[in-house]
Amino acid sequence: MKGKHVTMTSIEHAPNAARATATAEWWRTAVIYQIYPRSFADANGDGVGDLRGITGRLDAIAELGADAVWLSPFYTSPQNDAGYDVADYCDVDPLFGTLADFDELVEAAHALGIRVIVDLVPNHSSSEHRWFREALAAGPGSAERSRYIFRDGRGEAGELPPNNWQSTFDGRAWTRVAEADGQPGQWYLHLFDSSQPDFDWSNRWVQERFLEILRFWLDRGVDGFRVDVAHGLDKEHGLPDYDQPDLTDFFRPSPHWAQPGVHAIYREWRALLDDYAGDRVLCAEAWVSPLTSLSDWVRPDEMHQAFNFVYLATSWDAEELRRVIRDSLAAFGAVGAPSTWVLSNHDVVRHATRLGFAADAELFHGIGPSTPGLPDPATALRRARAATALMLALPGSAYLYQGEELGLPEALDIPDADRQDPAWRRSAGERYGRDGCRVPLPWEADGTAIGFNDTGLSWLPQPEQWRTLARDRQRLDPASTLRFYERALRLRREHALGAGAIAWERTSGDVMDLRNQGIRVIVNLGDHAIALPAGTVVLSSVPLDDPARLPVDAAVWMREE
Ligand code: GLC
Repeated sequence: MKGKHVTMTSIEHAPNAARATATAEWWRTAVIYQIYPRSFADANGDGVGDLRGITGRLDAIAELGADAVWLSPFYTSPQNDAGYDVADYCDVDPLFGTLADFDELVEAAHALGIRVIVDLVPNHSSSEHRWFREALAAGPGSAERSRYIFRDGRGEAGELPPNNWQSTFDGRAWTRVAEADGQPGQWYLHLFDSSQPDFDWSNRWVQERFLEILRFWLDRGVDGFRVDVAHGLDKEHGLPDYDQPDLTDFFRPSPHWAQPGVHAIYREWRALLDDYAGDRVLCAEAWVSPLTSLSDWVRPDEMHQAFNFVYLATSWDAEELRRVIRDSLAAFGAVGAPSTWVLSNHDVVRHATRLGFAADAELFHGIGPSTPGLPDPATALRRARAATALMLALPGSAYLYQGEELGLPEALDIPDADRQDPAWRRSAGERYGRDGCRVPLPWEADGTAIGFNDTGLSWLPQPEQWRTLARDRQRLDPASTLRFYERALRLRREHALGAGAIAWERTSGDVMDLRNQGIRVIVNLGDHAIALPAGTVVLSSVPLDDPARLPVDAAVWMREE
């Protein structure tokens, strides 16, 4: 916090720093790397990544310097929503391996000092789950049906859905079933695909099953859970019509998102986790705004982390970024929680493409070759690296999504016939969906499937240009995105930036300028190069031609002499 030629304008956040040093709460400052198992590494060569593939490549994550991995679902599933449609919560889908493979993965990760977080999908199961099949068979009014949200339809013969809600993946959020006599009968709710029926979380039976599922994985040694759709479990009593029935506006208050009943559920889970040794964590996937509401998910007796999607959704604008950083530190700080920063994941357009778009571009439904305003890839990547430098300099925890350390762009040219996202299917091709951020990783430039496996198969086609982005090439190039990420993570750790506090050097204009733990962070979001202050640049998001000037769309970390 020292500096001779600097005036500090404010210090905005300290509770995280105090807590992190006072306790062993690793998650307050951790960098967590999201593995999307289908697309990470494929050991058996069937074109879909698997657990043994991950275990074989864990050294790359250790080299990168992440503290933990989060694995997207690898459970038994018909894979209608890439595994977010779970048919058995306590087993591994043969596509990904076996429980023994999972145990080996955890052991290998722990041996490298990497913690393992798994995905928990409690809002809905697959329609192939035994519990749902039993519900269908048992008929209206049965205990089995009360595990899910079955209702009679409206209209004279129940031919209209019980309310007007729409699925997140397009189309209505209700599907009518045939009863035992073969006649059309009740409807069930699915906020996502029709193969993902929503549980009724007011039913104690459901609550108890999930306590068992948590225990099953905790007993196997996992370090925590990323909780899918953590804002969706409680629905407003009576399931009223929604005046703006489009469910995809996750941030709007609605009868199906962010209802207050979710908090009691997470308190019970937290108490269960607290009974286990080893600092196990819960991280909410809760698309909730404003930040002062999101912070309810991370009160001291609830979850540990909640993805800061308000930050992810912020455009490349200094004023907006300052505001969201300030609001985040204030909101999370008020409940003693870290902010959990994130720029990319398996549901959004990769930030190495997204940040090149105009601020008002509508990207939520995915992008493809016909999307208007496609950005210049080089500009988008520059911004992405600068954005990463900013994010990794902030106090709190940060999640990385596999491939961002290679600067992977969104894959645009996926042939229609190869697209797999249910959003693409349900919208009859109107929404490109999320396949573009899910393409298997490039490992070796000259390898088959660019090193993803040794058969050349790939469940989504890999762009040929990705050979130049392969990890083995980037390791040899000191100016590569990979080397930049490795350096950033090492410096973040050395300077304990995750446990620091921010002081703003400038609070207006197109340049962001702040300090954390004696490191000065400068990001140029303007339209011309700027002079850098005296000091040593320890990290730069792009090679600096002139060490005294910071070009447009670039960021540096500096140590002042
Ligand atoms: C979450 C997941 C997403 C999935 C959806 C339904 O938002 O991240 O991939 O499609 O939930 O489970």
